[in-house]
Amino acid sequence: MAARRNPRDRSFDVVLYGATGFVGRQTVAYFARHAKGLRWALAGRSHDKLAALREASGAKGAGLVVADAADAEALDALAADARVVLSSAGPFARYGSALVAACARHGTHYCDITGETPWVRDMIDRHHAEAARNGARIVPCCGFDSVPSDLGAWLAASTLAREHGEACVSVKACFSLRGGLNGGTLASLINILDSGERKRLADPFLLNPAPPKGIDPRRHADPVAPHRDADFKAWVGPFFMGPINTRVARRSAALLSGRGKERIYAPDYHYQEYLRFGGGVAAGLIAAGMSVGMAVGQGALRFKPARWVAEALGPPPGQGPSERTMDRGSFRCELVGVGEKGAVVRGRIAGRGDPGNRATTIFVCESALALARDADTLPGGAGYGGVLTPASALGDVLARRLAAAGMTIEPLA
Ligand SMILES: NC(=O)c1ccc[n+]([C@@H]2O[C@H](COP(=O)([O-])OP(=O)(O)OC[C@H]3O[C@@H](n4cnc5c(N)ncnc54)[C@H](OP(=O)(O)O)[C@@H]3O)[C@@H](O)[C@H]2O)c1
Repeated sequence: MAARRNPRDRSFDVVLYGATGFVGRQTVAYFARHAKGLRWALAGRSHDKLAALREASGAKGAGLVVADAADAEALDALAADARVVLSSAGPFARYGSALVAACARHGTHYCDITGETPWVRDMIDRHHAEAARNGARIVPCCGFDSVPSDLGAWLAASTLAREHGEACVSVKACFSLRGGLNGGTLASLINILDSGERKRLADPFLLNPAPPKGIDPRRHADPVAPHRDADFKAWVGPFFMGPINTRVARRSAALLSGRGKERIYAPDYHYQEYLRFGGGVAAGLIAAGMSVGMAVGQGALRFKPARWVAEALGPPPGQGPSERTMDRGSFRCELVGVGEKGAVVRGRIAGRGDPGNRATTIFVCESALALARDADTLPGGAGYGGVLTPASALGDVLARRLAAAGMTIEPLA
C-alpha cells in the first residue's frame, strides 16, 4: 500500500474513474470544457480504450491511469496520487468498494453517481469513521439520484431557518421528468435485485447514522398509492427513485442536525417525494394505473426470469439513449417546506436534458469541481470528512455552481 501523501504533492487534482462508460465519456467531455487549470486524468481498466477516448474528446493534456476494479493495489496508488476521485464505474456494488476504501485511507475526496443504497450503507459501516479521521469527503449519490432531492430539501429547510427562524418539520418534493435508460443503470438495478437486498431497500432510514429513536417508521414508508395534493395542485403518485432519494435526504438531516449551532430540522422532520401526473380527472386515472403498474413491475422483478427479460430487452452496459433523446429530456423538482410555526417555503430545481445523463453529468462534475476548487469554503470546514451526502458535504457551494452551470435552483442560499 502506498504511503499517505499531502494532497498538495499529488499528481492529479481530479481523476475520472470509469471514464470509458456511457456517463464516464460525458464526464470527460465536461471536464475537457470546464476544468481549465486543473490537473486531471481519465482512469479505467483498459489503457487502449482510455487513450482512444482522450484523443477523441480533445482532452490531450489529461493523464491516464489504468486500474481494474479488482486490483486493490492499483486503486490504492490511484487514490494516493489524486486529491479528488469522481467515479462512474457501476454497478458500484461490483466495481466500487476497493476505490472507496482507498480514498478513505488516503484522505482523498470522492464523489460518484450510485443509487445503490445497500452498497452505500456498507460503505458507511466500513469507512465513515476512517474518512472522518482523514478528512476525506466521500460523497455517493451525486447524480440525478439524489442531488435535486437532497440539495432541494436542504435548501428549503435552511431557508426556513435563516429567513423565518423556524426549524423545518417537513419537505415534500414532486418530480416531472423526461429521459431515457442507460445499460449501466439497468445492470445496477438487476445486480441489486440479484443480491436479495429487498429488506434493506425498504428501510426508510437505511442510511441514517443510527436508527432514529421515538419515530414511527410507518409514517416515513414509501408511498404506494396516488393522491390529489393541494400544495402541488396535481395528482401525484409513487416516484420510482423515491426509495433512493428519501434515504439520502434523511441522512443529510441526521448529519446536519449534529453539526453546527443552527437548528434547521425539527426532531420529527419528515421528507417524502412523488411523481407529478397533472391536475385533471384523466391525470388521476393515469396516476392510479401507473401506481398499479409500478407495483406489478416491482413484484415481477423479484423473479429471475422477469429480470432476464428486462436485461434482454434493455440496453447493454456501455450504451444508453440517443443524442436526440438526451437533448430533448428535462426534469423539474418542485419543493414545499413547512416550518414548526407554519411558515412555508417553496422551491424548485430544474434543468434541460436527459436527467440520467445530461443533468447527472453536470451534477457529478460540478460536485468534483467543488471538491477540487472550493475545498476551503465547503460546509463543515477544513478537515470535515466521512461518508456524506451532497447536501452535507457540498451544500450551498454546489447549489451556486449548478446555478452558474445553467440549472434553475430556487431558493438559492
Ligand atoms: N445517479 C444517476 O442518476 C445515474 C445516471 C446514470 C447512471 N448511473 C449509474 O452509473 C453507473 C454507470 O452507468 P453507465 O451507464 O455509464 O454504465 P456503463 O456504460 O456500463 O459504464 C460502466 C463503467 O464501468 C467500467 N468497468 C466495468 N468493469 C470494470 C472493471 N472490472 N474495472 C474497472 N472498471 C470497470 C466500464 O469500463 P469499460 O469501458 O472498460 O467496460 C465503464 O467505464 C451505473 O451504476 C448506473 O446505475 C447513475
